[in-house]
Amino acid sequence: MSKVLLLHGPNLNLLGAREPEIYGRDTLADIDAKCQARAEALGLALESFQSNSEGALLDRLHAAAKDGVQLVIINPGAFTHTSVALRDALLGTALPFIEVHLSNVHAREPFRRHSYLSDVALGVITGFGVQSYLMAVDAAAARLAPTHDR
Ligand code: DQA
Repeated sequence: MSKVLLLHGPNLNLLGAREPEIYGRDTLADIDAKCQARAEALGLALESFQSNSEGALLDRLHAAAKDGVQLVIINPGAFTHTSVALRDALLGTALPFIEVHLSNVHAREPFRRHSYLSDVALGVITGFGVQSYLMAVDAAAARLAPTHDR
């Protein structure tokens, strides 16, 4: 079974209560459960991890590379727009990754338009709420299939 890590950055533990008009009413546990169900149906082993700490996210990525994780789905939260360290960890571990956002970061404040990760991601899915994550799980399964269309 292919191993996929679902990584959630800062403040995503507040989902459900946090600015629901932007991020929706699903809690992080709801999102994890939906992704888990989709991953299982597609034959992927999915683990998820959230932290508000940049260092903990880096450490989790380093561990994932050693654990044989094949692909990362990451919502980096605000670290998207600030973190060279997260970019370096993803490049340093050589873990292929998909960047996801619940909101459409291009339709919000100008500072959200820049991502330190997008240009080195397999792809970016932004603006579809919880569907952004489910599309990423689908894309991960397609990518990890023995023969995938590019
Ligand atoms: C977010 C968008 C980021 O700009 C913001 O800082 C977040 C959530 C999203 O999922 O839409 O924390 O990544």
